[in-house]
Amino acid sequence: MQRCFDLAALGEGHTAPNPMVGAVLVYEGRIIGEGFHAEYGGPHAEVNAVASVPASLRHLIPASTLYVSLEPCCITGKTGACTSLILKEGIKKVVVSCLDMTPGVAGQGVALLKAAGVEVELGLLEPQGHFLSRVRNHFVTRRAPYVMVKYAATPAGCFAPQPAARAWITHPYTQRLTHRLRSATAAILVGTQTALLDDPGLDNRLFYGPSPLRVVLDRRLRLPGHLKIFDGSLPTLIVHESEAGAKTHRAAYLQLPFDADLLNNLLAALYERKISSLLVEGGAQLIQSFFDAGLWQEAIVYTGSREFEHGLPAPRVPGVCVQTEQIGTDSLRRFVPHSC
Ligand SMILES: NC(=O)c1ccc[n+]([C@@H]2O[C@H](COP(=O)([O-])OP(=O)(O)OC[C@H]3O[C@@H](n4cnc5c(N)ncnc54)[C@H](OP(=O)(O)O)[C@@H]3O)[C@@H](O)[C@H]2O)c1
Repeated sequence: MQRCFDLAALGEGHTAPNPMVGAVLVYEGRIIGEGFHAEYGGPHAEVNAVASVPASLRHLIPASTLYVSLEPCCITGKTGACTSLILKEGIKKVVVSCLDMTPGVAGQGVALLKAAGVEVELGLLEPQGHFLSRVRNHFVTRRAPYVMVKYAATPAGCFAPQPAARAWITHPYTQRLTHRLRSATAAILVGTQTALLDDPGLDNRLFYGPSPLRVVLDRRLRLPGHLKIFDGSLPTLIVHESEAGAKTHRAAYLQLPFDADLLNNLLAALYERKISSLLVEGGAQLIQSFFDAGLWQEAIVYTGSREFEHGLPAPRVPGVCVQTEQIGTDSLRRFVPHSC
């Protein structure tokens, strides 16, 4: 199953809004085939695992065990149902890490296989399986993108220098990790002040894989056209309230009331666009509003070694730290909400 997880991760950044999935076929303790879901719309992990078995070993498939990180699907979407493939190949044992909560699957895939006489073992390395599939399962059950907040702070807990100025807090290695996060996330969001003061590109320049959809709040359409977000290099969505103001920059526009429901409405609008994950990168006010509304699933906080003489205090994460890691001179802490 660990091999399934490792294979699944090779699809990072390319499968959304589908999950990352890995599958391995094992005959008498030997892997005879393996595969992963490589891109949205492409064959599922089970299909690739079966297809990878060399012709000389195909006769072993019915006597093999299929390990798969997520419940096989039993519905026909962009590709055929994986349960049909398993039955067609005569596979008699399937080991699954966790359920796929997609409506129409959600236990039905396992039930269908069992009803057809396949031995199914569910729950192997289940916590790791849930972690791997957390974005997909959140997206389909909550009908909203999985929200990941990310920011950097100084050792004293500052977020930005005051008076405000563009300033790096973390090491270039950490910035590369941020770009990896961007490559794995469908959309990225920043507040108006961050767009104005930092002029960020909000793209993925430092890692493999795609860049996210850039989403920027600009209530009164005051952001000038020379900012990098308007360079036309990537799809960009400006969320605004006001009717007045020029909508002439290179971007798409989404008009929403800037009221207490703004964030919920924004997440709903992103869900409609099939955006399964959202990286909230700042500034402090925007991040605090996601924390206050309880609209976040995960927070990554990097602590760099740089200090500011005067600084804007970083938001406090209202959650529990579940992972710490040292990255050269920086540290990473991963938080989840208390309720998790
Ligand atoms: N340390 C880090 O990781 C990091 C990351 C990003 C940015 N920064 C720094 O953070 C500073 C900017 O932070 P900030 O807190 O001042 O600004 P911000 O959150 O980027 O932007 C604040 C503005 O965005 C709009 N806005 C934000 N949240 C909103 C919400 N929930 N509802 C409605 N409107 C919302 C409002 O614009 P209107 O006033 O037009 O309504 C608000 O004035 C900069 O110095 C930047 O360099 C640091």
